[in-house]
Parts: sequence; C-alpha cells; structure tokens
Amino acid sequence: MNVLVVGSGGREHALCWKLRQSPLVKRLFCAPGNPGTKLVADNVEIPADDIARLLRFAIDEKIDLTVVGPEAPLCEGIVDEFQKQKKLCFGPNKAAAEIEGNKAFARELCRRHRIPGPSFWVYEELAMARSFVDNRPDGPIVVKASGLAAGKGVTVCKNNEEARAAIHECMERRRFGDAGNRVVFEEFLEGHEVSLITLTDGRTIVPLEPARDHKAVGDGDKGPNTGGMGVITPVHVLPRIRTQIESQIVFPTVHAMNRENRRYQGFLYAGLMLTPQGPRVLEYNCRLGDPETQPLLMRLKSDLLPLLLATAEGKLEEQQAPVWDDRVAVCVVACAAGYPGDYKKGTPIFGIDRVAQGPDLQVFHAGTAQRLGSDLVTAGGRVLAVTALGKDPTAARARCYEALQQIEFAGMHYRRDIGARA
Ligand code: AMP
Ligand code: GLY
Repeated sequence: MNVLVVGSGGREHALCWKLRQSPLVKRLFCAPGNPGTKLVADNVEIPADDIARLLRFAIDEKIDLTVVGPEAPLCEGIVDEFQKQKKLCFGPNKAAAEIEGNKAFARELCRRHRIPGPSFWVYEELAMARSFVDNRPDGPIVVKASGLAAGKGVTVCKNNEEARAAIHECMERRRFGDAGNRVVFEEFLEGHEVSLITLTDGRTIVPLEPARDHKAVGDGDKGPNTGGMGVITPVHVLPRIRTQIESQIVFPTVHAMNRENRRYQGFLYAGLMLTPQGPRVLEYNCRLGDPETQPLLMRLKSDLLPLLLATAEGKLEEQQAPVWDDRVAVCVVACAAGYPGDYKKGTPIFGIDRVAQGPDLQVFHAGTAQRLGSDLVTAGGRVLAVTALGKDPTAARARCYEALQQIEFAGMHYRRDIGARA
C-alpha cells in the first residue's frame, strides 16, 4: 500500500518510523516531514494545512491511506475533503474534531452526557469575563482559550489576579488570535494526571496504554505550560480506576459523539485528572499526543497499518487487540532556549550520530531542519524527542538521559525528572 503521513513533528517521525516496519507498506510519504521522517519516508513539500494540494497528491500518487497527525487540518475538515473524492483518510471528520477545536463545545458535551469534568463557565465578552472573576472568591482557577492554541492556551492561575492577567492576554492582547474570542474558566482540579488515547471507529473502542505527559517547562512541574516536555508509559493505574475511566469517560464520549451526529473515527485523546472523587476530563484532543506517540509506538508490537486502515474503514471490530511490549518507555524532549516563549531557530545540532539507535532507543526529530550543506539545525521549540525502552522506569530513564548527554546544541534544555515519580 502507499501511505501518506501528514505533519512535521516528533509524532509524525514516530508514525513514519513505525509504519516503515509494516510489511504492507510499499511507498511511504510524509508531508511536509522533517529531517527525521526523511530517514524512513519520502518527504513531500506540501504544508500540513494545504488540504487541496495534499488531496491532489494523494490522487496523483495513488495513496491508499492518508494518516493525519496534527489537529489543525483535522479541524479544518481534511477528512471530509478526502471523502468527497473517495480517498481514505485516517482521523475524525470536521464535526468530530470539534471535540478538540472548540473547548466550550467539549465541556458542554460532557455536561449534556454527564461525563465527569470540572465545573466550568464560558464567556465571549471581556466585561463579562472580568466580572465573573471579580465576583468569585479569590483562589485557584484555570483559564483556557476555547480554540486551538498549540497547547499554550491554558493558564493555571493561583488567584484572581493571575486570572485577570490571563483574560487580558487572551481577550485583549489576543495572544491566541480568534482562538481566544471565547474563554473557558474551569474549576482547578488536583490529583495525578494521566493521558489515555483510544482508537475507535465510532463502534469498536480500543484504549491504548495509559501515559503521563509532563506539561510544565520546568522540573517539579514549575513554569509555564508547553506542548509536552516528556512522557512515561505505562503509568500504573489501579484496575478499578481504569474501569471507571473507560466506563464513565471513554465509552460515554464515543457514544455521546454518535448521538450528536458526530461519529468519531480516529485517535481520541483524553487528558485526565485522577481526583479523590474519581477521574475527570481535563481536555480532549482529536489525535495522537505529541510526545505521547513516540513512547507508545515504541511499545506497540502489532503492525500499526491494519489498525489505522480498519479504523478509517469503520471495521475496527475485525482487528485483533494491539499487543504491547511490557517494558517501560520514557521520552524526553530537548527544547530550544526560550521555549515555550520566543526561541531562536537555526542553531546547529551535534551528536545524534553518537547515539546507538535501535528498537530500544530512538532520537525522533521534532523541530529540526537540514541546512543547504548538510548541517542539522533547530527549527522549532521542541527540537528532539529522545525515547528509550527499559525493563523498569529507572532503566528506561537511564538509557534516555545517557543518550541526551551525547547530544548538544546552544541553549538546549530538557526536564531531568521525566518519569521520576513512577
Ligand atoms: P490542557 O491542554 O487542557 O490539558 O491543559 C494543560 C494542562 O493544564 C493540563 O495538563 C493540566 O496540568 C492543567 N489543567 C488543565 N485544566 C485543568 C483543571 N481544570 N484543573 C487543574 N489543572 C488543569
Ligand atoms: N502532549 C499533549 C498533546 O499532544 O496535546
């Protein structure tokens, strides 16, 4: 089969790396890809959001399956456009992708279908949002831009003063553009966080292994939120809690989407807080997580292609459940100086060739570019996602951090405590 992966980050490098191992894949393309995807696929110079050109390419090159990594093209309706031309495209359609693209919708969906989440309040007018904050008792609250903001639209505020500043950034400074036209306030929840990604065609529901992302930029969860600084999987979740997550959150969400005429086909990512009162939904994403994908796919023993194909065709019930490597995978993201704020691009990267890569250790490219000569340089905030397998968290962490010590670029920073609590 001919397969096209859409996107250019660490998640897409991992998808290409895994799909390349499938005996069913003949030609593998990545649009636009990065220097990492180029090692395992043919990069195609089409931006991930240029749906018309991607469709043209898929028709011309007889692509059998297009796999969409990032949320933006999904929320723009890439799957719907491909379907109109009878081209198979993996991921939720536009109506279903709203579960990520519109946080106010996602919250209201939970309320309508009694899926447990934090209390929340939605405002479209600055004055109303301000007055909401002025009239609540001082204390922690979470402020979110309702639209897509590359994982940076969430501010966890310790008090009302910080909440006022967050509204200012969102609604007055318009830091997230139109995505900040509406703000969602959420009750601040405390507990352990877990991400559970589920593969579903809207009928059959296959939860993957639980993972833990580390969103804050600094060790000990200090500092502003990022797209994700590192992941460990599996995370130990008590069987009773696991059952609660599935029966109170995952299954009802898929059913709710069906009942609202938004049949969900693709990866459904639930970001969860395990509170003393039970699991609560923090957010949904309409795709695989980045960097959750990197360690999850290193642990996936099954061929990924048949699972994706069956999901897109609505025949997931015909597939065997995925088989997982029992070992632990840890992924640590090496970032550019300044990230998640402004950061520099074009800094030369050294030492990846010193890392002994193999099935148990991979350096996935996230934000890299190849200079005209041959130098590898930084091209994004999250630059590399070093991922390792080990018999336990300690072994996986050791292998991962050892590899990171081989790699350098000016200003490189990463968290030292990924998976340390496990
Ligand atoms: P999100 O992108 O919505 O998952 O939010 C990013 C991070 O902000 C999450 O991983 C949590 O650490 C934190 N967060 C989001 N919503 C809440 C909430 N209601 N209560 C506490 N923390 C939250
Ligand atoms: N790592 C979190 C996300 O992909 O949204």
